[in-house]
Amino acid sequence: MFNQPMLRDDALKGKTIVVTGGGTGLGKAMGTYFLKLGANLVITSRKLEVLQKTADEMAAETGGKVLAVQCDVRDNEQVENLLIKTLEKFGKVDGLLNNAAGNFISPTERLSANAFSTIIDIVLKGTVNCTLAFGKHWIKAKQPATVLNIVTTYAFTGSAYVVPSACAKGGVLALTRSLAVEWGKYGIRTNAIAPGPFPTKGAWDRLLPGDLAEKFDFKNRVPLNRVGDNQELANLAAFLISDFSSYINGEIITIDGGEWLQGAGQMNGLEAIPTEMWDMLEQMTRSAKGS
Ligand code: COA
Repeated sequence: MFNQPMLRDDALKGKTIVVTGGGTGLGKAMGTYFLKLGANLVITSRKLEVLQKTADEMAAETGGKVLAVQCDVRDNEQVENLLIKTLEKFGKVDGLLNNAAGNFISPTERLSANAFSTIIDIVLKGTVNCTLAFGKHWIKAKQPATVLNIVTTYAFTGSAYVVPSACAKGGVLALTRSLAVEWGKYGIRTNAIAPGPFPTKGAWDRLLPGDLAEKFDFKNRVPLNRVGDNQELANLAAFLISDFSSYINGEIITIDGGEWLQGAGQMNGLEAIPTEMWDMLEQMTRSAKGS
């Protein structure tokens, strides 16, 4: 059931949605669902060949209209071109999903200044570049619209070994809440999704190379004891980009099966105690009460 499409068929009919990093992985999954819901789709990434192949696949699968635009979100001129190409093809644009990201694991002291900047440039400045270009257009055109950002749960907890990403995603989180207030008056809603583990080939091979993914089995970190299904994320993204969420603005919605809270609660490690041991522990805690 959780991997079934959620919204009604025409939920995004007549809308044009841009998905950065839409050629592969979660961006592709979310974009495909937007198409199924009747949206026109624009996907971007640095690799035009991958992008065009995905666009053709998506169009064949859904019968929808897909435009592939090569765009490195770090480069303002390319982002401006993305806006122009989108308007040329579809006449208007209604939603921006800032999904493009870059990340790798490393002890922070091993990083060069350029390595740190590269992640900040893709994740934070890339999101800012796209949001500014599209936002200015929407404000000028007096057109209501939606920005949806992809952050991560460590945007609010921080995380060792992915520090540039944590800093950048923390910035995107602040951007989300700030613009929700400032641009609300223009009818522009800004929200974010903080996904937990949704394994995709590209990102996970890069993030957890070799047998690390097996050793570091994510489902064991999740109270619901499984990783996320792409459709679950696509359902949430489609809802947040659609008019059905018209009164949701400035929210960061976590979808992680309870993963980050499991790591946070002081006594959560007691999960490891077997049931039969609880009888003994109860006796001990009860008898300790009066002493
Ligand atoms: N450990 C330490 N430093 C690393 C590194 C690693 N695993 N990978 C790259 N770097 C450093 C490089 O050495 C370089 O720094 P330097 O000039 O001081 O040597 C800097 O990071 C930039 O690397 P470069 O390969 O030139 O950048 P790029 O723009 O081509 O690639 C990345 C960007 C590094 C994020 C690359 O992994 C990528 O393209 N990822 C895109 C997709 C992605 O990451 N998706 C996952 C999302 S969760």
